[in-house]
Amino acid sequence: MTKKIVFALLFPGFIVGACLAFSPYNSLTNKHEENNISTVCTLSMFGGDENALRSCMTAYALQHNWFPSPISGLFSYQTWNGFDGFWQNGAVLETLANFMYYGNNTMYKSVITGSLRDVYSLLESYYPQPSFDDMGWYGLSYARIHEVLGPGNDDPSYGFLYEAKQIYDWIWDNGWDKNVSCDGGFWFDQTQKSKQTVENAQMLQLGSKLYRLTKDASIVPRIEKTWKFLESNVIVSNETYLVADGLRNNCSSDQNFGPTYNMGLMIGGLVEAAPVLNKTVQLIPLAHKIATATIHLATKNGVLVEYCAPNCDDDAKMFKGIFLRNLRYLIDYTKKYKDPIGLDNLPLYQQFIQHNCDTAWEKNRCEPTESNCTVIYKDGKSLHNTTVGPVFGIHFAGPFNYSAPMQQTCVLDLFVSAILENTKCVGSTCGFDPPIPQPSPLTCADNPCPVDQPCCEYQQEYYTCCESTQKCQSGECL
Ligand SMILES: *[C@@H]1O[C@H](CO)[C@@H](O)[C@H](O)[C@H]1NC(C)=O
Ligand SMILES: *[C@@H]1O[C@H](CO)[C@@H](O)[C@H](O)[C@H]1NC(C)=O
Ligand SMILES: *[C@@H]1O[C@H](CO)[C@@H](O)[C@H](O)[C@H]1NC(C)=O
Ligand SMILES: *[C@@H]1O[C@H](CO)[C@@H](O)[C@H](O)[C@H]1NC(C)=O
Ligand SMILES: *[C@@H]1O[C@H](CO)[C@@H](O)[C@H](O)[C@H]1NC(C)=O
Ligand SMILES: *[C@@H]1O[C@H](CO)[C@@H](O)[C@H](O)[C@H]1NC(C)=O
Ligand SMILES: *[C@@H]1O[C@H](CO)[C@@H](O)[C@H](O)[C@H]1NC(C)=O
Ligand SMILES: *[C@@H]1O[C@H](CO)[C@@H](O)[C@H](O)[C@H]1NC(C)=O
Ligand SMILES: *[C@@H]1O[C@H](CO)[C@@H](O)[C@H](O)[C@H]1NC(C)=O
Repeated sequence: MTKKIVFALLFPGFIVGACLAFSPYNSLTNKHEENNISTVCTLSMFGGDENALRSCMTAYALQHNWFPSPISGLFSYQTWNGFDGFWQNGAVLETLANFMYYGNNTMYKSVITGSLRDVYSLLESYYPQPSFDDMGWYGLSYARIHEVLGPGNDDPSYGFLYEAKQIYDWIWDNGWDKNVSCDGGFWFDQTQKSKQTVENAQMLQLGSKLYRLTKDASIVPRIEKTWKFLESNVIVSNETYLVADGLRNNCSSDQNFGPTYNMGLMIGGLVEAAPVLNKTVQLIPLAHKIATATIHLATKNGVLVEYCAPNCDDDAKMFKGIFLRNLRYLIDYTKKYKDPIGLDNLPLYQQFIQHNCDTAWEKNRCEPTESNCTVIYKDGKSLHNTTVGPVFGIHFAGPFNYSAPMQQTCVLDLFVSAILENTKCVGSTCGFDPPIPQPSPLTCADNPCPVDQPCCEYQQEYYTCCESTQKCQSGECL
């Protein structure tokens, strides 16, 4: 969740820069420059799978328009340009890994493989400290990347699986309520003021996935405790099957059933935890109830609508995509285990996803070649100097208002969740992976901040954009 940066101590982009100084990528010019979106993404390379093509184009535009950023570090942990929060830089990695997996390609693989950081560098990149759910996104993405890249890409003491487990252990050690009030649960952040659903459902999913991947038995009691907390506090409504956002102090749910990512994360958690806890008979039907409830209650004309629409903040702009990626995990589970209840629901899920894809493509898309699409470059313009479409706005049902990486990623999650099960990618551009140029950090002299946000510099080396309500004093936004 967004927590405002006061000052980031170390900008990891410089580490990336140091590595790239020894890489062959000294300039942007190489054979990839001759490609454009119509030559890189074609219907035939995906055997006619339209949503795979839409995913390819949406990913291309996301990378071209906002990545690489001219700056390094700051919010742009991956040197992405314009995500509003550290958490989104972590959460988008799972989207990209899923596109590789479902789309049977290795596009932008170096963005994925280059994203690995240890717990320490994640913690120090977000002053004063990331909240537990912030770290959870990196844990989930790293575990998924390990799955997608396959074994052999990891060393036992280094790599995506290793770091995912380190993150899990760090959250467990620092975030679990050791006083076990309300049957425990993870605090939202180090202030220990509240317990939200997000970090608890993430940990249910992450722990269970890690158990599936490692068979480390020491994780199982922690998964049991995590589920007991969610269950005993009735986080999933036993009337509507929507998922509450968090807990009240008296150990009851806060009855805020809005954010769709809670439904998504709970579904993802249940799908992974059910086999580990030997509770498939109880938990898989519950996941289906949450899925059908969301499809019926959080939609308008069959299109998923975020509770806060039309005035969602930058965090909430990515929530719908997180619901959809987890709905896809439930679909995958259903097909793999031929789960009878699930099989009955599959037509509903597939029709729902397809309808959302078609709606977003027709009503929420803007093509800069055809019209004036407003695109926000929060941290300065992209190195490519041009904007390519398709770019997407906030609401699947449109109309297009403006695009930024949050809404583009949200729609990418949507299209990726609809890629057909047996889609194969054929052709040289299935490995399209243009080089990541050496980051060239800006200073406040480059006017990198939005007009209403003061630029704040520290030792003429690092800067951050303060909130519009803040002032910069000696390198700190106060
Ligand atoms: C993409 O490149 C092809 C071949 O070089 C060219 O024919 C086409 O016009 C280009 N399309 C765009 C959108 O630039
Ligand atoms: C694509 O699918 C083929 C056949 O299942 C598989 O051998 C190959 O590894 C896949 N490639 C990628 C990049 O996922
Ligand atoms: C646990 O409870 C004790 C006594 O009530 C209290 O002093 C302490 O702050 C609590 N610790 C946590 C982590 O809540
Ligand atoms: C639903 O949960 C509440 C506790 O939040 C409990 O009092 C009630 O009996 C439950 N209803 C059903 C139908 O299980
Ligand atoms: C918890 O507190 C809320 C109001 O703060 C109240 O509505 C609710 O009934 C309480 N729940 C329990 C289980 O006591
Ligand atoms: C799982 O649960 C079933 C019945 O619900 C039981 O027969 C079986 O022994 C359990 N397996 C394990 C490993 O606990
Ligand atoms: C595009 O639209 C924006 C916002 O409506 C406007 O500020 C800008 O001047 C327009 N640009 C062009 C080239 O028309
Ligand atoms: C983008 O524009 C800048 C300055 O206008 C120029 O130096 C740079 O080479 C351009 N980049 C590309 C990829 O065309
Ligand atoms: C987008 O729509 C909102 C109102 O829903 C409006 O306040 C805002 O100015 C619009 N932004 C752009 C860039 O058009």
